Amino acid sequence: MTKLRAAITSVHGYVPEYVLSNQELETMVDTNDEWITTRTGIKERRILKGEGLASSDLGVGAIEGLLHKRGIAAEEIDCIICATATPDMMFPSTACIIADKIGAKNAFAYDLMAACSGFLFSIATASKYIETGDYKKIIVVGADKMSSIVDYTDRQTCIIFGDGAGAVLLEPNKDGLGVQDSIMKSNGEGRHFLRMTGGGSYRPASKETIKNKEHFIHQEGQTVFKFAVKGMADVSGEIMERNNLKGEDIAWLVPHQANKRIIDATANRMGVGMDKVMLNIQRYGNTTNGTIPLCLWEWENQLNKGDNLILAAFGGGFTWGSIYLKWAYDNK
Ligand code: UT7
Repeated sequence: MTKLRAAITSVHGYVPEYVLSNQELETMVDTNDEWITTRTGIKERRILKGEGLASSDLGVGAIEGLLHKRGIAAEEIDCIICATATPDMMFPSTACIIADKIGAKNAFAYDLMAACSGFLFSIATASKYIETGDYKKIIVVGADKMSSIVDYTDRQTCIIFGDGAGAVLLEPNKDGLGVQDSIMKSNGEGRHFLRMTGGGSYRPASKETIKNKEHFIHQEGQTVFKFAVKGMADVSGEIMERNNLKGEDIAWLVPHQANKRIIDATANRMGVGMDKVMLNIQRYGNTTNGTIPLCLWEWENQLNKGDNLILAAFGGGFTWGSIYLKWAYDNK
């Protein structure tokens, strides 16, 4: 009997309207378009403006589009996993808030926190639920309002991040399509180099945490860069080797969009030309858990049933990993 696999059957993305360009950043911090473009590949990013709007609203935008496209009601969803590093609040989970907002009354919902690898880890987790046969429709949504934790006086981080969300629907597939393999890794020694210390149980919010800017992202860029290049390239190479895949077998590399130079190195290691790499960092920057599904959404029309895709991510923790999947539908 063919193994039951979890296949993506619909994808949708959502980005807020406001465009924060490199030119506007030049008026805010000591930076310039040329530096940002050559060091990161980013030209602009989106920012969610408006009182009371949060990561859940980005997630809802993505999921509502997805349900509409797939032609199903929210009540049919069994489970919602929200990958986010910027939850609406410490608790309840953003996934529960999203489920309520969209009317997914029959779903259980929870958040998964693995920084920029959260979406990838969530797909790996959700695919196991589907493979048991117990669940038929699972939504994985990556949603981050990164602007809520970015210090717009810190030129090392404010140029990188943007807001956005993307969602996929996973359903059972008996034709050999869908998630074939996944590798997930973490190393907590990396926690010192990319972190937000304030607001948790370690450093609850206080006048001091605010004064010390502990409610913002702190990143030692060069250190993270070195680990990211090696981590993402190594894990992508590993998943190809153990599935006997060569560069020419890969239809698309779908990398986390943190820095174009990290993506170039990963593609190079895999023997995949840049014409097979999904790249939209220039328009959205690093949307953390939104990057991979936003790519899938934008490239959906170019994907063919049976295409081999490698998803790859690296993020805070450190966390990193890759997924090998066979695309399950034509959308032309
Ligand atoms: O998604 C989660 C994982 N995160 C990542 O993968 C991010 C990994 N890191 C990076 O992408 C890069 O390290 C950054 C984009 C954050 C920084 O690029 P870099 O090439 O590593 O720059 P750097 O930190 O080594 O700084 C080089 C120079 C420094 O000046 P000096 O000391 O050489 O005079 C910085 O002060 O560039 C300066 N600099 C800037 N200049 C203009 C740093 N930020 C800026 C800026 N504009 N925004």
